[in-house]
Amino acid sequence: MLRHHEIAEADHRILNPLNDRKLRLLGDIARIGPDTRILDLACGKGEMLCTWAAAHGATGHGVDLSDTFLTAARDRARELGVTGRVTFEHGDAARHRAPGLFDVTACIGATWIGDGLTGTIALLRRSTVPGGLLLVGEPYWIDEPPEAAPAALGFAPGDFVTLAGTLDRFEDAGVELVEMVLADTDDWDRYVASQWQTVHTWLHDNPDDPDAPAMREFADRSRRTYLTYNRRYLGWGVFALRLPPA
Ligand SMILES: C[S@@+](CC[C@H](N)C(=O)[O-])C[C@H]1O[C@@H](n2cnc3c(N)ncnc32)[C@H](O)[C@@H]1O
Repeated sequence: MLRHHEIAEADHRILNPLNDRKLRLLGDIARIGPDTRILDLACGKGEMLCTWAAAHGATGHGVDLSDTFLTAARDRARELGVTGRVTFEHGDAARHRAPGLFDVTACIGATWIGDGLTGTIALLRRSTVPGGLLLVGEPYWIDEPPEAAPAALGFAPGDFVTLAGTLDRFEDAGVELVEMVLADTDDWDRYVASQWQTVHTWLHDNPDDPDAPAMREFADRSRRTYLTYNRRYLGWGVFALRLPPA
């Protein structure tokens, strides 16, 4: 699966339905500044850490399982002149033990690392200062989906809930939702539909690659489920969650 995403998202910098403007907005909302230390679990190509280091002077550490994405992250840090401010590490974010505490900890679009939203909040919390901020990217159902939708999109029925249900999950976890930046349909199209063309081109250039049949199936399934369910029923956003003070 990781390899499929590496191929399909080769042309993306942000591996989520979030655009550059909203990523900047998120940095402003999170009050990122020169003294802010950020931990990003499942950091992908490190766009958040690199651009916030460049724009705000923040420092950060990213962890991801993909060497391909981490190479892109280090290249991006060089491109933006922030190699002294950000570091990237290969590893399983679920097992990661950060040395010390961070002001802001993030998991943007990979809450499976904590076996769901609640577990990921617990995972981030253990590396965050009291009163610090968690940034969590998570899907939600815009409307009650058809029964077949979760399985078609690769989820278990209870994995995601409505926005109000997501708020309940935050409150049950003991964090306060203080802000959010949500993706709109155009953000989703840019994230998902643009992958179809990337895969189409890759298949044209690599017809005999051992991954070609799986990539063809990946693109076929993505198109079908996106247009049938995802675009209409599935929302996505980054939620800013404040921890209680010490
Ligand atoms: C949807 S992408 C999000 C990447 C990044 N947060 C962003 O917004 O651009 C999910 C990321 O999770 C990474 N990943 C998946 N499982 C992981 C794990 N157990 N530990 C660390 N990274 C993981 C993938 O390699 C991928 O980069």
